[in-house]
Amino acid sequence: MKAYKGNIIFTKQKDKFEVYENSFLLVDNGVVQSIVRELPNGGDAIEVVDYTGKLIIPAMNDMHVHAPQYRNQGIAMDLELLPWLNNYTFPEESKFAEPAYAKRVYSRFVRDMWREGTMRSVVFATVHCESTRLLMQLFEKSGMGAFVGKVDMNRNCPDALKETIEQSIRENEALVAEFGGEKNALVKPIITPRFIPSCTPELLSACGKLAAKHSLPVQSHLSENTQEMALVRELEPDSRNYGDAYFKYGLFGQTPTIMAHCVWTRGEELELIKNNNVMVAHCPTSNMNLASGLAPVRSFLDNNIRIGLGSDISGGHELSIFRMMVYAIQTSKIRYSVDKSRPFLTLSEVFWIATKSAGTFFGRVGSFEPGYEFDALVIDDSELNFDDYSLLSRLERFIYLGDDRYIMHRFCRGVEIKEPCVL
Ligand code: GUN
Ligand code: FE
Repeated sequence: MKAYKGNIIFTKQKDKFEVYENSFLLVDNGVVQSIVRELPNGGDAIEVVDYTGKLIIPAMNDMHVHAPQYRNQGIAMDLELLPWLNNYTFPEESKFAEPAYAKRVYSRFVRDMWREGTMRSVVFATVHCESTRLLMQLFEKSGMGAFVGKVDMNRNCPDALKETIEQSIRENEALVAEFGGEKNALVKPIITPRFIPSCTPELLSACGKLAAKHSLPVQSHLSENTQEMALVRELEPDSRNYGDAYFKYGLFGQTPTIMAHCVWTRGEELELIKNNNVMVAHCPTSNMNLASGLAPVRSFLDNNIRIGLGSDISGGHELSIFRMMVYAIQTSKIRYSVDKSRPFLTLSEVFWIATKSAGTFFGRVGSFEPGYEFDALVIDDSELNFDDYSLLSRLERFIYLGDDRYIMHRFCRGVEIKEPCVL
């Protein structure tokens, strides 16, 4: 048993922070047992790890990120989604046919996820099997958790990114055989049809069958951009909405599912998300950079829809999920300024979305309640601090002003994760 001593903060519910000043977080075998002010029986059999004065908070979860777009982070933001994909994103992703290139970019990506305190993520790779395998191996070596998807796509893209259905099935099966066996593994495959415009009905069907056959989760994009949605209406004239098109192919909650964006999701599509327990990955920086719109996060919360935050590199330019919390609040305030009927998001709400709500995708992750896996960050905010801040003001200042320099320790499933090497 270990006891981590410090100022412990987390969100059990979305409207309130739990704050334990100068307390002990007891962890056994990587699992949280309890939080106590004093150690039981003098604490003889317990190893104390002393982080007195520091903040101990749940680690971050990034629910939507494209590892192969890492080199495009912070550039090429002058176009909307469809031309952005064609002009910048597909040419960059084509380079991942070359494993040596993938190794260079992916090892930096994994190192920087670590830096930002993101211990679990749900990641798009590219259509290339070998590079995807490399990314999974890098995550495994790091000790951090990730669902990694080999992207499936076979239309509306350059030939270099097109696969045949047979190839898609064969390569997905190979990755599942290699990484899909152990239930408790930290790195796992996820079925990843890029989005409806990139996949023929036959490929979408094949993806749905693979997910069902191996009980694998699914990730994709939904209702991000109005031109994209018009294209989907043309391609899927018989579907009631974009979400329904995925549903038809077994890709919308038949197994655990994450859909990125949902900027324009309303009405029946919102009901379908809710009824199928689909998680929304809200990506506020991407939605601004690609001029996609302002997602209706408050109505997702009011409808008890599962939600997490995503950096969506490189539509998004920020890897830090702390920054994402700030942008989520700010975009909700812009929405509110034009429609006062729904309140903007609060700090505890976005913290809960990023940690406990997102964490449900990985199991019992994202909180410090008993039974949760110990995924945690230790923050030394003394450089940001003046004597008289409350613990919650210190957390707020770290979220708004802090960065990786203030993150002293990172834990995933109870293990301290050291800096992954860059290849
Ligand atoms: N829709 C399909 N592919 C992508 C992508 O790479 N990024 C974003 N933001 N949306 C997409
Ligand atoms: Fe995306």
